[in-house]
Order: sequence, then C-alpha cells, then structure tokens
Amino acid sequence: QDVPVIAIDGPTASGKGTVAQRVAQHLGWAVLDSGALYRLTALACMQNGVADSDEAEAARIAAGLDVQFHNGAIWLGGHDVTAAIREEPVGVFASRIAAFGMVRQALLERQRAFRRLPGLVADGRDMGTVVFPNAPLKIFLVADVAARAERRCKQLKEKGFSANLSSLMEDLQARDERDRTRSNAPLVPAPDAIIIDSSNLTIEETVNAVLDHWSKIG
Ligand code: C5P
Repeated sequence: QDVPVIAIDGPTASGKGTVAQRVAQHLGWAVLDSGALYRLTALACMQNGVADSDEAEAARIAAGLDVQFHNGAIWLGGHDVTAAIREEPVGVFASRIAAFGMVRQALLERQRAFRRLPGLVADGRDMGTVVFPNAPLKIFLVADVAARAERRCKQLKEKGFSANLSSLMEDLQARDERDRTRSNAPLVPAPDAIIIDSSNLTIEETVNAVLDHWSKIG
C-alpha cells in the first residue's frame, strides 16, 4: 500500500521541525526529523575524533549509527543525546558532513524506513527532492534570516544554552549557503513544492496552511 508522505523542506530554523511535529500529531502520522540523523552522525564523529573533512569515515559512522527514537527522546549508543545534538557546534559539524555524497547515501534507506501507515511527515532539506520524490504534498518553508535567528536564539535559551543573535545570524547564513550550493542534494524546492513564507506567521498559522493544502489533496 502506498504510504502518503508530507515533505517539509527549508533552510535552518525556518520552523520546519515544530511544524512537522504538529502536522503529524494532528493527522496521527509518524514523523521523521532527518536533520537529527545528520546531527547524530556529527556527534558520533566528534566523540570518535573523526574530522569534518573525512568523508569515508563519516559515512562509516553514519551507516553504523546505533540510534533509537522514542517518546520524543533520541538515544545514541545507549545514551540520551536529545539535548546534546541541538548544540550549535553539532549543527555546524552536521552541515559540513551533510555535503558528502557517501554520508547522504549511508542515511538514505534509514530515512525511507520511517515511512509507515497511516502516513509520514518528513522534515529536512531534500525530503521532496531526493528521499521521498513521490510525496503527494511537498512544502518548502522559508522565513527571512532575522526571523529565523530570533527563533533559534529563543529556542537555544529555552534549552539553557547561551546564544548570541548576531553570531547566530552569521551561522545561519553560512549554513544556508553551504546547504544551497553543495552538489549533493542541495537545498532547493522541488519543482512541485508549495512555498510558504512563515516570517509573519505564527506556528499555528503555518501548521494550518500545511493542513489546508493536505485537505485539498488527501
Ligand atoms: O535541520 P537541522 O538544522 O537539524 O539539520 C542539521 C544539518 O543537517 C543542516 O544544516 C543540513 O546541512 C543537514 N541536513 C541535510 N539534509 C537533511 C536534513 C539536514 O543536509 N535532510
């Protein structure tokens, strides 16, 4: 049976994660946070002294990741890393190794395995273009960089991490640039994606916009 997928792609801190979770909750569907897999690979590399320039070793780590997702928590090799993978240095490392074709290939089937009935909401950069190209609904969520930096700043502070708005803005721009210009699965909207700009929308309004599009299809 064909399992429907709602693909939600977009730049860093565009609100994809929260929106994906709420849409999935509303529909009673599973959710894939694909960025978490890149972050987990990054954390495992950092813990094992693998450099962010070592494609083969990073891919080997990605292929062998011992991860468990349950009740919103993420475990890596028996340790709860839910908070650790959200730290900024892990995100930056993740965006470097995400440029490697071998790393992306190693994570491909792991991502597709999240597809299960009654449906999957998948968030990332290439959900609609590479991982689930036949998804019946593809959303490309954007927001201006100031709005995204403010959201990320608030998020980090809520989690007890320190955060600085201007350095976050620089970080986001550098990460966006890397994601957009890489040759492997660059961050671009699929030709059939619907673009939603959430700069001036609340999370609830954005969730409703996605659900609205789905109700026209589903
Ligand atoms: O979405 P998040 O910020 O958690 O992702 C961390 C990094 O992983 C991103 O900056 C991006 O470079 C990479 N990523 C990716 N493809 C995905 C999800 C994330 O390249 N599908």
